[in-house]
Amino acid sequence: MPEAVISARNLRKTYAVKGKPEFVAVDDLTFDVAPGESFGLLGPNGAGKSTTMKMIGAVSTRTDGDLSILGLDPNQYGPEIRSRLGVVPQADNLDAELNVRENLYMYGRYFGFSGADCRRKAEELLAFAQLEDKAKAKVDHLSGGMKRRLTIARGLINDPRILLLDEPTTGLDPQARHVLWDRLFRLKERGTTLVLTTHYMDEAEQLCDRLIVVDKGKIMAEGSPASLIREYSSREVLEVRFGSDKNSEIAEHLQGVGDRVDVLPDRILIYTNDGDAALNRIVELGHHPLTSLVRRSSLEDVFLRLTGRSLIE
Ligand SMILES: Nc1ncnc2c1ncn2[C@@H]1O[C@H](COP(=O)(O)OP(=O)(O)OP(=O)(O)O)[C@@H](O)[C@H]1O
Ligand SMILES: [Mg+2]
Repeated sequence: MPEAVISARNLRKTYAVKGKPEFVAVDDLTFDVAPGESFGLLGPNGAGKSTTMKMIGAVSTRTDGDLSILGLDPNQYGPEIRSRLGVVPQADNLDAELNVRENLYMYGRYFGFSGADCRRKAEELLAFAQLEDKAKAKVDHLSGGMKRRLTIARGLINDPRILLLDEPTTGLDPQARHVLWDRLFRLKERGTTLVLTTHYMDEAEQLCDRLIVVDKGKIMAEGSPASLIREYSSREVLEVRFGSDKNSEIAEHLQGVGDRVDVLPDRILIYTNDGDAALNRIVELGHHPLTSLVRRSSLEDVFLRLTGRSLIE
């Protein structure tokens, strides 16, 4: 791997809790991010994704371990690191007093760019975010997707080599998500390193070259989406529903139908290389599901396999 732009070794973050043992939010994370790579942190609520992103972004100090961003230790070089990163936090923190163009302009000024530079960059980024016709609109009057696009555009004002995106598309409709994915692909094509968190498996599959699956502050698995699916799941998954009161009981009779059987509250998942054959076998055994679906394995299945829990509960 070329020299890493982000390198974490046994990275740890704990929070003091009154009257209780300290709470471990990030527990010994070790990972590297290569230049130009699109690296993801995939995990459920509370996994420690934002906490990790804040340490990478040099806005939160680590409790223990080593961290290097662009070769610099955030404990000593916080301002330098912050000036070279683009950051898209989980919650939009745009300036509601300013209009769309002014938000970009003022953020550039904050980084110390000249007025002329900021005006030029603001126009470029308005086009990039497809917000030209909203340039004079107040931030409060933008839709959620537009705010997200503006926050991403703002994060690019200093031409960062690394862009940190904490749940870039949470809460957006499918169309707005696809527009954002397209923008992020373009950045990737231009060589920007992307580090993003998500709990959308399809987003991770679309955008990440490599990812870590995180749960309760720990890395459960690491690899490309395809390699994780190969390693932890089967080629296909058959989903059958017999009704929530019957699933568990019937699942007992289905052991051996595929490589593995998992029971969720609303359905049974059968991991197999041939979903149709598995369905035929179930019918031969005398069970008739209310509904059935054969699909390719996804990162959701990887997560379920690793943790015994569904990613989105
Ligand atoms: N300032 C804080 N003080 C105490 N506990 C905190 C603090 N910040 C985060 N935590 C705890 O650390 C854990 C990890 O939080 P974090 O925000 O990193 O999760 P996340 O993976 O980003 O989750 P989500 O998907 O919900 O955004 C949670 O249990 C959270 O309550
Ligand atoms: Mg978070």
